[in-house]
Order: sequence, then structure tokens, then C-alpha cells
Amino acid sequence: MHELIEQEIVKRTKDHENNEWQSLIPEGGYKSPDAYLYEDILLSVVLKKAILLKGPSGSGKTKLAESIAALFEQPMHSINCSVDLDAESLLGFKTVVQKEGQTWIDFVEGPVVKAMKEGHFLYIDEINMAKPETLPILHSVLDYRRMLTNPFTGEVIQAHPNFGVIAAINEGYIGTTPMNEALKNRFVSFAIPYITGEQLAGLVDEYFPTIQATLKNSMLSLATDLRKQAENGLVSEEAASIRSLLDAIELAQYMSPIRAVRYAIAEKLDDASEKQLVIELAKTWME
Ligand SMILES: Nc1ncnc2c1ncn2[C@@H]1O[C@H](COP(=O)(O)OP(=O)(O)OP(=O)(O)O)[C@@H](O)[C@H]1O
Ligand SMILES: [Mg+2]
Repeated sequence: MHELIEQEIVKRTKDHENNEWQSLIPEGGYKSPDAYLYEDILLSVVLKKAILLKGPSGSGKTKLAESIAALFEQPMHSINCSVDLDAESLLGFKTVVQKEGQTWIDFVEGPVVKAMKEGHFLYIDEINMAKPETLPILHSVLDYRRMLTNPFTGEVIQAHPNFGVIAAINEGYIGTTPMNEALKNRFVSFAIPYITGEQLAGLVDEYFPTIQATLKNSMLSLATDLRKQAENGLVSEEAASIRSLLDAIELAQYMSPIRAVRYAIAEKLDDASEKQLVIELAKTWME
């Protein structure tokens, strides 16, 4: 690992030990699809870049963000974007507090403010799903300024040196809701593919240490087929989702593997002929 990353691990681990946010430190386990992707992302984190992970559903984007936080032993706050996301759910809200006969207005800090002050990670999931007018509030947080003037309190917040933003967008080869240009421009972006080959076999071993070799091999062969079919445009990209594959393997330990594949992979596809193709491919490897 690059020495910059190693130095930063030592520093950040120390900064965050024994703090009250231990429960927000996730578990790691991300497997890099090649020798450099994960390390390049870590370097970008150390260089205080805002990170954008782009990849199809079940490609490990959330796992990757969690693994970064786990590596630095840094708590991570998550935001799920939707049309309902507003400034209050990002920054916090005012509330009336009554104590010992006194009444005053308090501000309950939201995830952005908390993460900036405490030097935690902020994970923004499905960032393209937010309303376009909501996220510009984060522009100064995401660029070199790393600061925010809280519109609700007037407080000027300069981010802690360990603060970092990791966003994810569910973007396959097929078009998804585009992200606003000025927002996208503030991130360094990484395409996160489905892992294959040895990495995938290793992941299956980790998840299912006692799995039968025949089941494992047939599921991995099916995964390779599905991946090829997806590349050729014969099935949707999601047919090759690692999440679906892991689900299929888990179910297959208790029921017929074909039924497991049907429930975990085929039934999620909208197109009847794609469903059929997945089942036909599965039948060439398993009963
Ligand atoms: N490269 C990988 N390394 C480790 N685990 C992986 C990897 N790819 C997928 N997984 C596993 O697959 C499952 C789905 O991963 P995850 O939830 O991170 O996907 P995602 O890209 O965030 O999907 P979505 O866009 O639907 O949120 C998890 O169990 C995760 O551990
Ligand atoms: Mg996710």
C-alpha cells in the first residue's frame, strides 16, 4: 500500500479511537476488481477529494465506502437521496427545548454538519436521485473550500481534516438520471464494475466457507455466462449483480439451485425472454 495511505491510517485511527461514535464504524471486506482501483480510491480519499462511485446495482459501492471507513476506523454517516431530501435532512433542524422552566431554540445537527465537525465520512447514496435544487448547498463543502455556512444558524463550519465525502450513483451502461454538471465536477469519479474470476471466487469462499465445490463451481460458471450475456446486451446488466449471485448461492444451500437462481436472479428481470435465458443458462450448469 502507498505510504501516504499507511501514514494516514495511523493518524486517523488514533484520532478516532475511543470516541462516542464507534457504532458508526462499519465493517470492511471490499475486494478490488484489479490491483489498483481500491488503492487509487484510497489515495484520493487521503488527498481529500470527494469520491464518486459509479456502478450497477450490487457491484459493491456501499461495501467499498464502508471498507474505506473501516480501514481508517472512521465513523460514517449515510444519506439516502430521494425527492424528499431537503436542506434540513442534510444539515439539521431547529427545535424548541424546555428545561427547568426555561425555553430556548436548539439546533439538532444533521449528518453533513456532524461529519464535517467530527471528521467523519459522509456517504451519499443515489446522489442523482435528489432534486436538483437540494444539493448545491453542498458545493462549498465538496470543493477545495471544505466549508459551509449553515443557513439555519449562520454558523460557519470548516471541515475537520479527516472529513471525507463518498457518493454513489447507480449507473450502468444504460442511462440513468443524470447528475447536475457542477455537482459532478466536484468529484473524482470511479467506475465500479462487478468483480469476476478469482476475486469473485474468493468472495464466495468468504461468504460461504463450507460451500460444496460443485455448487460453487456451477454458480461461478453461471455468473461468467451471465456476465457475457450482459456484455452482449442479451440480458440486463443487473442479471450479473454480485448481490443477486450471493443470494442465489445462499438459497441454493436449502433448495434446488435452479429455483434459487429463479428467485434471486431471473425474477428480478422485467423481460420474459431474459428470465427464460437465465434459467436456460442455469440448467446447463446445475439441476
Ligand atoms: N467487490 C466486492 N467486494 C466485496 N463484496 C462485494 C463486492 N461486490 C459486491 N459485493 C457484495 O455484494 C453485495 C452488494 O454490494 P453493495 O450493497 O455494496 O452494492 P451496491 O453497489 O451498493 O448496490 P446498490 O447500487 O444496489 O446500492 C454485498 O453483500 C457485498 O458485500
Ligand atoms: Mg448501495
